[in-house]
Amino acid sequence: LATRKKQKKEDATSMAARQREIAVSEFFSKNRHLLGFDNLSKALLTTVREAVDNALDACEEAHILPEIHVTVKELAETRFSVTIEDNGPGILKSQLPKIFAKLLYGSKFHRLKQSRGQQGIGISAAVMYGQMTTGQPAVVISKTSQGKPAHKLKLQIDTQRNQPKVIDDVIIDNKHWNEKESGTAITITLEATYKGGKHGVASYLHQSALSNSHAIFVFTDPKGKVHDYPRVVNELPKEPKEIKPHPHGVELGTLMHLLEASRGKTVSKFLKDTFSRVSAKTAADICKTAKVKGGASASKAGRNEAEKLYNAIQNTKLLAPSTDCVSPIGEEALIKGLYWLFVEAQKHQEEERKAQKAQQDLFEAANDKEKEGDDAQEEPVVEKEGGNVQMELALAPDGTLASDEKGYFVTAVTRSPNVYRGNPFQVEVGIFYGKGLAGDDQARVFRFANRVPLQYQASACAMTKSVTSTRWKTYGLNQSRGSLPIGPVVIMVHIASAWVPYTSESKEAIANYDEILKELRLAINECGRRLQKFLRRKRKEADEEKKRSYIIKYMNPIGEALQEILGFSDSQKDETISSLKEILEDARGHMPGGRSIK
Ligand SMILES: Nc1ncnc2c1ncn2[C@@H]1O[C@H](COP(=O)(O)OP(=O)(O)OP(=O)(O)O)[C@@H](O)[C@H]1O
Ligand SMILES: [Mg+2]
Repeated sequence: LATRKKQKKEDATSMAARQREIAVSEFFSKNRHLLGFDNLSKALLTTVREAVDNALDACEEAHILPEIHVTVKELAETRFSVTIEDNGPGILKSQLPKIFAKLLYGSKFHRLKQSRGQQGIGISAAVMYGQMTTGQPAVVISKTSQGKPAHKLKLQIDTQRNQPKVIDDVIIDNKHWNEKESGTAITITLEATYKGGKHGVASYLHQSALSNSHAIFVFTDPKGKVHDYPRVVNELPKEPKEIKPHPHGVELGTLMHLLEASRGKTVSKFLKDTFSRVSAKTAADICKTAKVKGGASASKAGRNEAEKLYNAIQNTKLLAPSTDCVSPIGEEALIKGLYWLFVEAQKHQEEERKAQKAQQDLFEAANDKEKEGDDAQEEPVVEKEGGNVQMELALAPDGTLASDEKGYFVTAVTRSPNVYRGNPFQVEVGIFYGKGLAGDDQARVFRFANRVPLQYQASACAMTKSVTSTRWKTYGLNQSRGSLPIGPVVIMVHIASAWVPYTSESKEAIANYDEILKELRLAINECGRRLQKFLRRKRKEADEEKKRSYIIKYMNPIGEALQEILGFSDSQKDETISSLKEILEDARGHMPGGRSIK
């Protein structure tokens, strides 16, 4: 009893004294895992990713073909500095502090448009992480046009108040920035580790090059090695249109909030202005079904009216959302990207290696020459100049690029746009099969959402599920039930949407919506069927080759036997042998012509 008395009892007043507002920056500095900073190697990846995503978004919005330089330097065992520089439109000096040193500040949150960023928290979270772990401010340089100065600011976040602090502010006068037309560079010093493998920065950039074949990436790793990813598509992707929300996708709570915020509008005008696919007539129909007066003030509508309107909307037939708000990568860009990374770039690496062994080089090049021209399909024409690659590919009529002899196959399928919960989306799948990859490993699946590689939570993702639930045996690959197929295969899966349904705020996996899974499966099946044809042809040809070599082996004895039986002269014998050989050669099938892409 005595001890219990000693403990001070809380009451409403004492508890009230301890209530305090929490700044969003305070919240996220305690909960950094929510934003992808839960361990040292992931922190490095997230930092690079946030800056690269922003750079790509900014370049595309300003209609500039992106060129992005990423440099990671090791300062001490767990201390790195990361610099990302773009050639985008630059940022006004007055905006720099808030963009980089205030959480939840951005241009993309209040709109419905396909982009990589969405929340207005990405880059400032990385700045905050760097500051928390090393005490170092972020250094930002930005220039908005030729003739204007480049400003360099050192920035920190006041985490107690979520406000930016400018530590240093100078104008940069050096050759690089004087010559550069516009762009932004950010350097963050942070506690991190550098990891290779599929979760690493190199893998992220490798995959980004695949989904952004219109961009140049130059990555300098901590060892000083430069990884070059040239531009293989020389035009920007189709710009996605900004859209209004579709009424079928809106939830009751959101509808209530929107009604409340719509000052001075009648209910019908509110419906017409706020949503896509609602004409004056449709608005009138909805009001009639809901038994709500169309001329009443929207902001005065109560919960009751909102619910009636909500139900009426669900029961009104509406046009599906317009689909020009999604911008896929496209079949041609997918094929070019895959072909470049897994055939040409390999060749270039090979050449580098070869250059070191000059003797060998000569020998192998001569061998390569001999083999050329034997293909059914035309050889791709590839020229590389600086960061740009010109590529002409001749696709077979079924939309594939393959070389039986070099043992590679590439194809891609972009589905028509579709809708989940009122949100338009579009999926696409690309497949690369090639003898350069390990044949007895599981296929690699590269997942992308709005062109951003997703590297974590593979097993929770609808995209992985669509691959593992496909019966790859029908398409000629080994597979144990419910797992990834086995073979020298890369499967690239992309979803583009104005609102990507991530399973959580860390944007790592896609939710299992039936509509999305169905589209994914259809795209995979189509690619699978094309792969199956290639593999069948390959096997058939291998069989034929075996038979042919068997026959050739006995060609001379046959000729001699004929000579003996039919009394041929020596020249008649030789003629017979060579015409038999010709027949054998002609028996090899040739592909009919296809389309070519430049
Ligand atoms: N390199 C850049 N060039 C031009 N503008 C940029 C650049 N980086 C960021 N911005 C601007 O700063 C804003 C804030 O960036 P931030 O990464 O914090 O948020 P976001 O990209 O909008 O969303 P998310 O949190 O999902 O990344 C962006 O919306 C964009 O307008
Ligand atoms: Mg961002």
